Amino acid sequence: MSPVSEVSKPGMSRFVTVPNVQELSRKQLETVPEEYVRSEEDRPTVKSPTPDSSIPIIDLKNLLDNNHSEEEMLKLHMACEEWGFFQLINHGVPHPLIKGMKGLSHEFFKLPLEEKQKYALQPNGVEGYGQQFAVGGHKLDWGDMLFIRAMPVSQRDMSYWPTKPENFREMTDAYSLEIRKVATRLLTLIAQNLNLKPDYFNDKFGEDAKLSLRLNYYPPCPQPELVLGLHPHSDSGGITLLVQDCNTEGLNIRKEDSWISVKPIPNAFIVNVGDLVEIMSNGKYRSVMHRVITNREKERLSIAAFYSPSYSAEIGPAQELVDQSQHPPLYKTISHAQFLRHLLVDKLREKRVLDFVKLDSART
Ligand code: OGA
Ligand code: NI
Repeated sequence: MSPVSEVSKPGMSRFVTVPNVQELSRKQLETVPEEYVRSEEDRPTVKSPTPDSSIPIIDLKNLLDNNHSEEEMLKLHMACEEWGFFQLINHGVPHPLIKGMKGLSHEFFKLPLEEKQKYALQPNGVEGYGQQFAVGGHKLDWGDMLFIRAMPVSQRDMSYWPTKPENFREMTDAYSLEIRKVATRLLTLIAQNLNLKPDYFNDKFGEDAKLSLRLNYYPPCPQPELVLGLHPHSDSGGITLLVQDCNTEGLNIRKEDSWISVKPIPNAFIVNVGDLVEIMSNGKYRSVMHRVITNREKERLSIAAFYSPSYSAEIGPAQELVDQSQHPPLYKTISHAQFLRHLLVDKLREKRVLDFVKLDSART
């Protein structure tokens, strides 16, 4: 059996279904199959963070406290401008809820394959259990995922929401509400830092702003030095909030010419600016490339929450940040739906959708 079977999708025939990595990992192979072996320049050589090269830590309590907000707001500004990433502490989301979500996700991935396959990602779909955007003829990622839409509630497809473990749905619902609270709060502060009106992003994102969750599971890998858990990418949404296992590092972010490993802080969110906020800030804040590396002995789990504008939102540089002489617009204004259509095409070509939105005059 060929390990990669091509599935036919009208118009996008190169997306493929791929083997389940967790099952592959169970086989106790000594070497990883060829499809996972990255070319030498893509293999995980990482620079570990030195004290001055770890991503910034931002304290939400300080941001909201009159006595500390000025200094913390400046830190937030620098983080979004220079790193595109930060760790958020004192965010107000109850720690037992975060712990609970991680626990339930672990339980989900531990279920028999047959049970998980009830939620299998369909050839033409986006939601479900499997691997999104696997492209024929390209190297595969060493990880499995479950992707679901959580907000608005009207756009949930409950057939992809696991019924096992038992309280998965209830807790995911509670978690989504909390994430939305933090995300809207951060967007208010980010708008203020850009000298936009505080509601700028939240108004643009609209009442039907979208929240999707991706549960990522990276099983132990016999040759972690040759593979990636998740290929280099930038997040295509507005803003991402990620929680992860605290005893296993794996997330690398691109800084200048190296990959920097993120040291998890228990219960903190790793937050990053997505493509759409990069566009709306006219490039002031950056959607930074990141990837995941795997581990020989340990599995790793993460839960990414992507907060994005509604489908109907118009995405383009904020007028307030554009002037023709010093700050010409760097990106086109397009609808979010149009952006997403391009995202699929560009994923196939392994291109960044940001390059499509970039105006010719802004290309270097
Ligand atoms: C993602 C992502 C990082 C991780 O899901 O987009 O970047 O640590 N995940 O799993
Ligand atoms: Ni990502």
